[in-house]
Amino acid sequence: MRVLRVSLSRYNPPLRRHRSTVAATPSEIPILGHSYPTDSYTNITPTIVSKLSRRLHAQDGHPISTLRSLIENHFPDYAHLSSLSPVVTPYQNFDSLSFPADHPGRSKTDSYYINKDVMLRTHTSAHEVDVFTSGEARWLLTADVYRRDEIDASHYPVFHQMEGANIFGTDDASVGAVERDIQRLERQLAESNIEIQDVQHITATNPAQPSHDPRHSEIAARHLKLSLNSLMYELFAGVGGATKENPLQVRWIEAYFPFTSPSYEVEVFFRGKWLEILGCGVVLQSTLDRSNVANKMGWAFGLGLERIAMILYSIPDIRLFWSEDMRFLSQFTSGKISTFKPYSKYPASYRDVSFWQPDNGIHDNDVYDLVRDVAGDLAEDVAVIDRFTHPKTKRHSTAFRVNYRSMDRSLVNEEVNALQDQVVSRLKEQLRVEIR
Ligand code: PHE
Repeated sequence: MRVLRVSLSRYNPPLRRHRSTVAATPSEIPILGHSYPTDSYTNITPTIVSKLSRRLHAQDGHPISTLRSLIENHFPDYAHLSSLSPVVTPYQNFDSLSFPADHPGRSKTDSYYINKDVMLRTHTSAHEVDVFTSGEARWLLTADVYRRDEIDASHYPVFHQMEGANIFGTDDASVGAVERDIQRLERQLAESNIEIQDVQHITATNPAQPSHDPRHSEIAARHLKLSLNSLMYELFAGVGGATKENPLQVRWIEAYFPFTSPSYEVEVFFRGKWLEILGCGVVLQSTLDRSNVANKMGWAFGLGLERIAMILYSIPDIRLFWSEDMRFLSQFTSGKISTFKPYSKYPASYRDVSFWQPDNGIHDNDVYDLVRDVAGDLAEDVAVIDRFTHPKTKRHSTAFRVNYRSMDRSLVNEEVNALQDQVVSRLKEQLRVEIR
């Protein structure tokens, strides 16, 4: 059931006539040392603001930071960038990458807006034009990215991505250098215990760009694939123990992104499952035109670091990355991948709430953000357990189950009740629902 979307953040509660426990909308919000005016787009929450300065990817010894440095070491002659602000414009995040005007990612229900002109980046691709414009031709960029999403063991509204790109001139000398690198990578992979399920570089449904010489598109796609196959081998073969009999399996799949063509996804078979690792493709020429490097072409990829770190370190819950508990942090050494030893799992405790939606409807993501704001990382999981439309009144009812669990201690019943009471009262006050 998709419903009308209304503005529902704590910073932007509906007008109220009566005394309320919900903070009034401040006219400005301080973010990373800068004050921003709020407006009807504002949906960033205090919980999210509190993550902006954590910078896990730069925290020495943290798995996210170690994974970043392992990938950086694999691309030694690339520029390594990791300190760009998460605050970007919708132009940077979407328009500079040719996202259509009606792309769902732009909506307030999917992305965090500080106001209508400023948002939190939803992917590291938001910086492609800036980095290409600055003159970098080969670069890696690591950053925290923000998306409004569900709550469970593998979804968190903040995660880390690494973007990589390589662009080259289309003159014979530059193309020749890429061809030599293709040969180097081919030789290296031929010696490795890796089995690659490939797709054709270019097809009718995954076309080369009309402005490109098809020979150059082919070379860019081949260099992209070899560079990433070699990275996958570096990351997964060591930990997984690839052998001649049991090679690392990597599979390429045709994909679509608004800012690359052809586009692909990469999956790796690890511990019995195919895992989606990254998206990539040949950079849309309009991106490079906007970056004043119209004479170059090349490729880009974006990968999710938590995803990969959870697998390599056997970290079972994405919330653990944000833990400041020494039982978590002290397990890791900078530069080294090790297997996480879980400390005791404390008991979970769930509470259900069901309500009638207000006439203008609410989005599930509004409920997730509200729970996150009340319970922080004590909310392990939030799931819709029932949807129902009253046959006569046509009113919509939704039931959610919130699973509370601390990773560091046992929660007592009173504490869980108090959290759930707050969830319920904020549902009533902020989202204007009628509890059933
Ligand atoms: N930005 C894309 C994502 O977040 C990944 C991507 C990066 C795809 C670069 C293509 C090229 O899903």
